[in-house]
Amino acid sequence: MSQYQNKRIVLASRPVGEPTADNFRLETTTTEPLEAGQILIKTLYLSLDPYMRGRMSDVKSYADPVAIGEVMTAETAGVVVESNSPLYAVGDHVCCRSGWQEYFVSNDKDPMTYKVDAAKVPLSTYLGVCGMPGRTAYFGLQREGKPTAGETLVVSAASGAVGSVVGQIGKKLGLRVVGVAGGAKKCTYVKDELGFDECIDYKSADLDAALAAACPNGIDIYFESVGGMVSEAVAKQLNPGARVPICGYIANYNSKDITQVRTPFHIFGELETPPAHKFFLVFDYYSEFAEANQALTDWVVNGELKYQETIVDGLEKAPEYFSWLFSGKNFGKLVVNVADH
Ligand SMILES: NC(=O)c1ccc[n+]([C@@H]2O[C@H](COP(=O)([O-])OP(=O)(O)OC[C@H]3O[C@@H](n4cnc5c(N)ncnc54)[C@H](OP(=O)(O)O)[C@@H]3O)[C@@H](O)[C@H]2O)c1
Repeated sequence: MSQYQNKRIVLASRPVGEPTADNFRLETTTTEPLEAGQILIKTLYLSLDPYMRGRMSDVKSYADPVAIGEVMTAETAGVVVESNSPLYAVGDHVCCRSGWQEYFVSNDKDPMTYKVDAAKVPLSTYLGVCGMPGRTAYFGLQREGKPTAGETLVVSAASGAVGSVVGQIGKKLGLRVVGVAGGAKKCTYVKDELGFDECIDYKSADLDAALAAACPNGIDIYFESVGGMVSEAVAKQLNPGARVPICGYIANYNSKDITQVRTPFHIFGELETPPAHKFFLVFDYYSEFAEANQALTDWVVNGELKYQETIVDGLEKAPEYFSWLFSGKNFGKLVVNVADH
């Protein structure tokens, strides 16, 4: 068994507001020899996701925060380079929760480590459209949004990893789909490439007027990913009986004190006739992941589901890339290429 130099990024300190370089530290360790039932995975792609900002803070949440000095949490896609398990062979492609590092020793029975077929769709897509964000869209829209053909769906962060899939599934279900995204380039892509009916640039439009024009019959479902001004505008045009699956509210994640901000729960809860609105977690549907994985992968293979990725190079620069999620510099799923093979 070989030992490998392992570069990894740990949480050095907790950010107040927007994370800075000082909140992260690059370290090099050496991998330990494998025990029975263990495999060594080399990271090829690292997924950067908005939820990681929450894990950097020591606030009450559905998941424990990353401890100071602990490897930053993340799902990655990689390849098995050594195996001490009958369940995995060297060369198998896998997804796992390795965190921000080059190598990861996984127990072969870890439910968060699973094989994927890189011959079917590109390996990186198992972190995006065919992975966690795709599953979030799949269950969030269908189970929480409870759509009926002919209804109007508004999707925020519409060009992103989750939003792009929500809107395309919405079209498959016969909804009128209106995206909200930042900038003309993203809006053109959402409408022309992804097939949404309209897409509103929240950075330049008069949101109230643009939503009224794009949603002449009001809004039946709002798939919430951002919060803030977009939610305030949507709230005014919801129909009675509307549903608002709260997937996230990224506009608030870098607030200096998240307990003091006006979240979607305030915005929608304070309406005279509040819509059905609750936070959901993709892991609420864990037992049904296989169904979503199959459907999403089939739709990508047959061209029904389009996707965009921003693939950037270098684990060392992951903290800088992470900030892109909050400025909108990413276009589609943000993935770091850590190694080529
Ligand atoms: N509940 C769950 O289980 C679950 C699972 C996955 C993701 N999520 C949530 O889903 C949301 C989208 O995640 P994702 O992975 O698909 O990210 P993403 O959309 O690929 O990237 C984040 C996007 O958010 C937009 N954004 C950033 N700051 C904003 C602001 N202040 N106002 C409006 N838009 C802003 C930017 O797009 P523009 O350039 O268009 O502004 C940015 O590109 C996040 O809230 C995330 O936490 C929840």
